[in-house]
Amino acid sequence: MRGLVVLVTLACFANAQHQALIDYLERRLLAIEVRRKQCDPLSMCRHSATAHLCHLLLKQDRISLWHEQTTRYASELRELKQQMVSQLENLDKEKEALRMNLDGMGTRVDRVERELDYLETQNGAQPCVDVDDKLIEQQVTLVKEKQKAKYSKLSDCSYMISSIKAMKILKRVGGPKGTWTKDTSRASGKVYIFNGTDEDTIHEFATIQDFTRSLGLSVSKKLNLPSSWAGTGHVVYNNHAYYISQGEEIMVVKYDMRNGSVTDSAVFPVQDHVPVYGLTPETVMDLAVDEEGLWAIYATRQNERHISLAKMDASSVDIEQMWDTNCPRENAEAAFVICGTLYVVYNTKQPGRSRIQCVFDVNDMVTNEDAPLIYFPKRYGAHSSLKYNPQEQLLYAWDDGYQILYKLIMKKKLEI
Ligand SMILES: *[C@@H]1O[C@H](CO)[C@@H](O)[C@H](O)[C@H]1NC(C)=O
Ligand SMILES: *[C@@H]1O[C@H](CO)[C@@H](O)[C@H](O)[C@H]1NC(C)=O
Repeated sequence: MRGLVVLVTLACFANAQHQALIDYLERRLLAIEVRRKQCDPLSMCRHSATAHLCHLLLKQDRISLWHEQTTRYASELRELKQQMVSQLENLDKEKEALRMNLDGMGTRVDRVERELDYLETQNGAQPCVDVDDKLIEQQVTLVKEKQKAKYSKLSDCSYMISSIKAMKILKRVGGPKGTWTKDTSRASGKVYIFNGTDEDTIHEFATIQDFTRSLGLSVSKKLNLPSSWAGTGHVVYNNHAYYISQGEEIMVVKYDMRNGSVTDSAVFPVQDHVPVYGLTPETVMDLAVDEEGLWAIYATRQNERHISLAKMDASSVDIEQMWDTNCPRENAEAAFVICGTLYVVYNTKQPGRSRIQCVFDVNDMVTNEDAPLIYFPKRYGAHSSLKYNPQEQLLYAWDDGYQILYKLIMKKKLEI
């Protein structure tokens, strides 16, 4: 009977099979009874003188025995039916879970679809002026190629933070607040130190090793900016420093590190700036570099409680697009951008453990629910800056004068 129960448990995964199995069991029960009849003990009475009496007695015994056996089988069958019913109920629950999973998958597919729609609209229409066929062909190929580039770009950069794998303290130079970063372009290995929140001298080291072995900032190569920076919102990208300068208005200045000249500058086209992070008042505006290029993280009085984000063109310092995020300014300490997703790091006034507690994805593929709540390892004071390097997938952090590296582990955005 046990073997049968297992068999039934395994086989019973559909309603139609359910009835068929009960029929089958009933047939088996019948067969057993027939077999019992065939090896009937009445044959023992064949040679007995009192054959008739023997028959009667045995028949009585046999009847009660069969009665007993039948009752037992019937109750076993009842048990089996109950087990099947509960199995079927479980199956229904599993079906429901599966359906919900499929729904979730559907929304994710929808998001990707929306993203693709958006990309298509970004590529603009084909030209419809009266030019010769060859030119049109060229244009079409160009559009197609552009499209391909955008798509492959999207697929290249579709990851998000999974966790912080390790932390390394490299040095302690300068004051409690500042920024340090490597040039976030492939070729350069140079390291730049922006000590303080209101200075005009950048310290350059040829490599990370040179920096860690150095006796301090006095031995660095010094680059003097034409104006002082405000806060800790600077980046170094493709041999250029981009920094925020605050006069009457907020300026983004692009400075060529190779020949020490200002290549470009632009007034950030937003009025009524407020410091972007609640816990880092010196930083009016922050800049970030990721796989997609240059970003500005800022806040205005019009949307005072939340952080805003803008995509910038790194060559012209123009604004390409702007977003109001759902990430609060209150208790924000720093932020960075990875793969088009803004990660805001929060702390408390009495510095505790910093944590990534709000994300905003311009591609709408990562929501706060998808993003893990990530705590930073032990630290000293407050992060005055966190700069992401897309080539190394490292965060360059300045924490109370310590220069720290955080190694990140990434995962695909849609893997939850
Ligand atoms: C670094 O900046 C701090 C102010 O934040 C200043 O006191 C200190 O002298 C600076 N150090 C160097 C080496 O410039
Ligand atoms: C500095 O270099 C850039 C590009 O290499 C060039 O466009 C610019 O004119 C140079 N500026 C000066 C002052 O030499």
